Amino acid sequence: MSLLSPWRADFPGILALEAEGQTYLDSAATAQKPQAMLDALLAYYSSGSANVHRAQHLPGERATRAFEACREQLGKWLNAQSSAHVIFTQGATSAFNLLAYGLEHLFQPGDELVISALEHHANLLPWQQLALRQNLKLVVLPLDTARRIDLEAASKLVGPRTRLLAVSQLSNVIGCWQPVAQLLALARAHDALTVVDGAQGAVHGRHDMQQLDCDFYVFSSHKIYGPDGVGVLYGKPEALAQLRHWQFGGEMVRDADYLDAAFNPAPLGFEAGTPPISSVIALGATLDYLNQLDHQAVTAFEQALHQQLMAGLAARDGITLLGQPNIALASFVVDGVHNADLAQLLTEQGIAVRAGQHCAMPLMKQLGLGGAIRVSLGLYNNGSDLERFFGALDNALDILR
Ligand SMILES: Cc1ncc(COP(=O)(O)O)c(C=O)c1O
Repeated sequence: MSLLSPWRADFPGILALEAEGQTYLDSAATAQKPQAMLDALLAYYSSGSANVHRAQHLPGERATRAFEACREQLGKWLNAQSSAHVIFTQGATSAFNLLAYGLEHLFQPGDELVISALEHHANLLPWQQLALRQNLKLVVLPLDTARRIDLEAASKLVGPRTRLLAVSQLSNVIGCWQPVAQLLALARAHDALTVVDGAQGAVHGRHDMQQLDCDFYVFSSHKIYGPDGVGVLYGKPEALAQLRHWQFGGEMVRDADYLDAAFNPAPLGFEAGTPPISSVIALGATLDYLNQLDHQAVTAFEQALHQQLMAGLAARDGITLLGQPNIALASFVVDGVHNADLAQLLTEQGIAVRAGQHCAMPLMKQLGLGGAIRVSLGLYNNGSDLERFFGALDNALDILR
């Protein structure tokens, strides 16, 4: 019996793609959206939109209340000390850039910033550019044979010069959970700031910020089934207190003169200008939707789909995984076959997977690969989506080999 997602009907986008003959297996890039999120977007706009935090009129007050309600929900979702520690950005990428600029005053030439070899460009380039601007040393933690961040190497490379450690919780290329708790402990032992890239990790399970005890945690709404245009930056109170304002403009200012100004603390001090109001409100509706799901059932279903994906790949000759994925995605190459040719033949058969470098060029170079195919799953995928994928893969490989 093929696996059937009990939640598929909640996602009109996946049904529309299916009706068009498309099998969507690229949820790690962005997820399809539940009807509840679409309803919230429409309700917000069709009931009269208004700007937040600035107007006394009824529509403005209503929008502000709905906007701030999402911050409250996120505070609970993350078990943050307070919802005031949740900052809205335009995405995970803009959150990392905010951090790289907002923390730069803390570093001296020669200080070390530690990342890992598998970071997404979003959690690499802002730190790399900061290191170049300030003459800091960027230290790259190597991977072990399972393509997880190598803890033994990390214990030697994280040291008294380390001022910041920024690592991914779940790799978007390898698909495996990283030993984040141990890495954070190493960094804390040297009083270094810690940043966790939760862009993929936040999709799977709940992450308790007080337990994880990182200084900053970052993710994007669009990957957790919410709208695009919103990112979430959680900061520990002591860490937020060290963050300098980066973008300047309306609503982040407490007092302004022509020649000087004083700024609000977090969160509003880091949300200059009109924020993505409709998207934040719709993210709130997405969280409501996710909250009422049976989490154990979701996890069990995701695991079963993942096993089907792994078994199908293992059953075919000449396929090499880029690592040992734990959940919801697998990246692979096929002996003698170029990933772009394979992607083209899959596309022609209505299979939407990702091919290429997955925004992790240094990692792909290190693995000696020009690219790879990535299949990624959402809670709306059925077993039959994978059956269609494997059928198309076999057809493509018959042609290419
Ligand atoms: C691990 C990881 N980090 C960061 C990002 C950047 O997210 P966004 O493009 O939403 O800013 C992504 C997106 O693919 C990702 O997978």
